[in-house]
Amino acid sequence: MTDLTLVGLCGSLRAASYNRQLMLEAAGIFGGRFTEGSLRLPLFDEDLEAEGMPSEVEALGAAIAGADAVLFACPEYNKAPPGVVKNALDWLSRLKPNPLAGKPVAIVTAAGGRAGGERSQNVLRWMLVPHRVEPLSWPEVFVAAPEKEFDAEGRLLSERYRKQLETLMERLRDQASGKVG
Ligand SMILES: Cc1cc2nc3c(=O)[nH]c(=O)nc-3n(C[C@H](O)[C@H](O)[C@H](O)COP(=O)(O)O)c2cc1C
Repeated sequence: MTDLTLVGLCGSLRAASYNRQLMLEAAGIFGGRFTEGSLRLPLFDEDLEAEGMPSEVEALGAAIAGADAVLFACPEYNKAPPGVVKNALDWLSRLKPNPLAGKPVAIVTAAGGRAGGERSQNVLRWMLVPHRVEPLSWPEVFVAAPEKEFDAEGRLLSERYRKQLETLMERLRDQASGKVG
């Protein structure tokens, strides 16, 4: 067990989100402390920013800054990450320093299509480049047809996906605890 802190960012705002279920499964495997950072933020607007950083953005930034690692759980909307993810990243880039810079990061996706959000995950990897983040490149976790992959309690049914999550979270823990650079 670890006393590391993981912050999860879910790209779906809906309560019954499969990505949130996947994020919570991963968090349980990661161990330690977990908090979800809310992406329910105002739309990025430089005029709003000029009035002062919104408290929701400050709170998200503080959660990320205080975490040892970050996990994105991201659906695919029209072959890309949902707008709430881009919106959050644009706000975070305006904090000084950007709390994401240099953080150990992992990405998982669950999406309705048969590729499980592969395109969305790949786009998100590029979106993180300006944030100076190098997400773990493997194992790639793409949960396809997620309505068949979770039980009524939101637990993953498939041993294959669970094993992938275990490896990904083990690698994230190693990076967060400085075992690997
Ligand atoms: C606006 C919209 C666009 C979508 N586009 C895609 C898509 O391009 N590829 C895909 O695999 N699924 C697509 N889906 C299906 C979502 O991936 C699926 O509903 C997923 O479960 C959403 O994540 P959530 O359960 O975490 O809310 C789309 C859903 C919505 C609402």
